[in-house]
Amino acid sequence: MTQTLITAALPYVNSFLHLGHLAGAYLPADMYARFLRLSGRNVLFVCGSDEHGVAITISAEKEHTTPDKIIDKYHFANKLAFEKFGMSFDIFSRTSLPEHYDTAQEFFLDWLDKGLLVEKEENQFYDETAEMFLPDRYVEGTCPNCGNERARGDQCDNCSANYNQTDLINPKSVVSGKTPVVRSTKHWYFKMGDFQQRLEEYIESNASKWKDNVLQQSRSWLKQGLADRAATRDMTWGIPVPVEGAKGKVIYVWFEAVLGYISATKEWAKLRHTPDAWKSWWQNSDTEYIAFLGKDNIVFHTLIFPMLLMAKDKYILPTNVPANEFMNFEGKKFSKSMNWGIFLHDFQRDFPSPGQTDSLRYTIAMNLPETKDSDFTWQDFQARNNNELAAIFGNFVNRVVQFLQKNFDGKVPVLPERFAKVNDAWKLLLEDFSREETREQALEKYEDKHLRYFSPNDVALIAALHFGAKKVAEHYTRFRFRDAVTETMNIARAANKYFNDTAPWKSVKADPDECAKTLYLCSQTISALSLLFAPILPNTCATISGMIGAQSVTGEPNAPQIDRWSTVALPTLTEGTPIAAPEVLFTKIEDSTITEQVAKMGGTTAVAEVKTPAEPSDIIAIDDFKKIKLRTAIVISAERVPKSEKLLKLQVNLGTETRQILAGIAKFYTPEEMVGKTVVVVANLAPAKLMGMESQGMLLAANTPEGTLALVTPESVVGAGSEVR
Ligand code: 2FM
Ligand code: ZN
Repeated sequence: MTQTLITAALPYVNSFLHLGHLAGAYLPADMYARFLRLSGRNVLFVCGSDEHGVAITISAEKEHTTPDKIIDKYHFANKLAFEKFGMSFDIFSRTSLPEHYDTAQEFFLDWLDKGLLVEKEENQFYDETAEMFLPDRYVEGTCPNCGNERARGDQCDNCSANYNQTDLINPKSVVSGKTPVVRSTKHWYFKMGDFQQRLEEYIESNASKWKDNVLQQSRSWLKQGLADRAATRDMTWGIPVPVEGAKGKVIYVWFEAVLGYISATKEWAKLRHTPDAWKSWWQNSDTEYIAFLGKDNIVFHTLIFPMLLMAKDKYILPTNVPANEFMNFEGKKFSKSMNWGIFLHDFQRDFPSPGQTDSLRYTIAMNLPETKDSDFTWQDFQARNNNELAAIFGNFVNRVVQFLQKNFDGKVPVLPERFAKVNDAWKLLLEDFSREETREQALEKYEDKHLRYFSPNDVALIAALHFGAKKVAEHYTRFRFRDAVTETMNIARAANKYFNDTAPWKSVKADPDECAKTLYLCSQTISALSLLFAPILPNTCATISGMIGAQSVTGEPNAPQIDRWSTVALPTLTEGTPIAAPEVLFTKIEDSTITEQVAKMGGTTAVAEVKTPAEPSDIIAIDDFKKIKLRTAIVISAERVPKSEKLLKLQVNLGTETRQILAGIAKFYTPEEMVGKTVVVVANLAPAKLMGMESQGMLLAANTPEGTLALVTPESVVGAGSEVR
C-alpha cells in the first residue's frame, strides 16, 4: 500500500479539549502523520468536530443556549487549541456541514435499499411535561444491577452494566425531573447480525498486528453476538432520517459521526478544487488506513464503522486502530465537574510559547497510555522540560552554536584541506552501515576501515544518528510512540556525549583542523536532530531550521514528498552556512510555577475563566450532608427475592421501628450471612418500589477492587438506631 490515510476521533463539541484527549488519540496521530510525511509517504490526516448527539443538547441546556451556539463555541475553540498544539491535520472539518448530511443520508438510504434496516416499534420513556422521547442520557434512575441511584438510561457508571432504559428503577427525566411514561416509538434497526461473520474474519485477519486492548474489546463484543441496534433516535438535533414519515427522528450519532471522516475528506477535496479526490483515498485498495482514538471509542471503529463500510461496498477498512487507554492527572481520573484535569486552552494561556507547547507534547508523549492508563503530573512536566529537553537536546544545540559563534565566525566550519574528503567518506560509511542490522555489528565490522578521516568518536556519532533513526522509525511504524520518543532523546544524548568526548574546547588550540571537523559534524547533527525531533517538537525544530538557515521541515501537510528520514544521517548543511545566535529553546520551569499549577487543580479558576457555567458540582455543603439521616440497623431476617439475582429482602430493626429494605447484594451475601449483622442505612430515603415490593431505605456498601460489595458496618457494637455522621 502506497499511501496512508490517518484519522483521529472526531471530538464531541460539548466541552473543551483536555490533555487526556491529546494522550488518547491526537498526539500519537500527529506524530505518526509527521513521521510518515518526513519519510516521504503520501499522507492524508483528517479530523473534525462531532456535532450531533445528546451530549450536545445536554450541554446546550446546561449553558442555557442552543445546540448550534454550543457547536460553534467548542468547534472553533477546539480547532484553535489544536492549531496551537501543532496538530498537522490536512483538514479539520465538522459534521454540521451539508457535505456530511448528504453523505450520512446517502449511506442511510443505501442500507435501507439493501434491506439492512428493519423497522421496529419499541417502548421508550416519554416525558409528558417536555413532550419528548427521552434518549438514554436523558433518563436517570437506580441501576437495576448495583443500586447506584444516579445511573444513566443505558449504562451505569458505577458498575458498567448495560441495560434497556425501561429497566431503570425509579426513572426520572433529566429534562423535567418528572417520572416519564412508557410509550411506543418506531425506529430503524441495523441488522448487525448479518455482519457477524465478516467482522469476525476482519478482526482475526488483523489479530497479529493489532494492539491487545483493541482485539480484546472487539472479540468480546463479537462473542456476545451482534444484535440489531437502533440506527435512529427521537430527537430534533441531528441528521434527519431521509424517509417519509420520519419526522422528529434523526440518525443515531454513532452511525453518522464515523462517516464524518469521509465527509471531511470530501470537504478537503472540494477545497482543493478536486472534488473527486476523496475517492482516491477511501475507495482505493492502495490506501492503508490508520484510525487513532481513545479506548472508549474502540468498537465503534473496529466493528460499527467497518460494518457500515462493508455494507456500502468499495470502501477500505481500517488497517489498524492503535487505540490508547486513558491518562489521569496527578493520580486521579479526569473529571469535568470536579475541575480535575488540565484543559488545553488553560495550559496554552499559562504557557503560551511554542517551546512550552513542545514541552507539553514531549511530556505527554513520554507518558502515553499505550498499554495501560498513565498519569500526567506537573512535576514530571517540569522534570522533562528541565532535565531532558533543556539539559540534553537544548544544551547540545546551545553549546554547538555558542562554540561556532566564538570560534568559527558563527558559521558551519569550512573543512580544512586534511579533511576535505569527509563528505565522501561519510557517504561510504553510511553505505557500509546500511548493510548491517545493528549498530554493534556495524561498528565491529567497519569502524577500523573508516578511521582515515574519522575518529572513533565521529564514527560512533554517525552510527548513533543512522541506527537511532532506524530504530525510531521502527517504533513509529509499530505504534510504539513512547519508545520512539525515548530513542530520539537517546540520539540527542549521544550528540552531547560526542561533544564531551571530543572536547573541542581543547582541540581548538591543540588541533584546529580536528576541531573544525568536530564542529562540522556537530552542525550536521543539529540539522539531523531537527528532523528527528520534528514529529514530537515541531515548533522547536522549526526554530532550529531558522537558526541554521534551512527550510523548516517538520512533516507539515502539503510539503514536497521526500524521504528525508532514511538519509537523516547524511550531512545536509554546506560549509560556511551562517548559524544564527542561539535562541533559548527550552526555558527552565521554576518550582513556583509548578506549585501554582498544582494548586489550581480541583480549584475553580479554569471554569471561571472559560466562562462555562459551573456544572452541578459534586461538592456539597455540610448542611446538605446533614439532610441525610444515616442510622445503624440490625438485620432481623433476610430472604432472596424470587426471580431476582440481585435482591435480598431484609427486615431491619432501626431501634424505634422495623423496616423492609430491598438491597442489591444477593450476589455477594447469602440471607443466612446477613441475619444479625449491624448495617448502616439511609433512614430518610423516600420509599421505592422494586419488583413490586416496597423498599423503605437503603443499605450502605462499598465497592471492592474485585468488583464485589462490602457492607459498611460499625467497628464496635453500637446497637440499632444509632446516628451515623
Ligand atoms: O468520543 C468522542 O469524542 C466521539 N465524538 C468520537 C467520535 S469518533 C468518530 F466517530 F467520529
Ligand atoms: Zn450499576
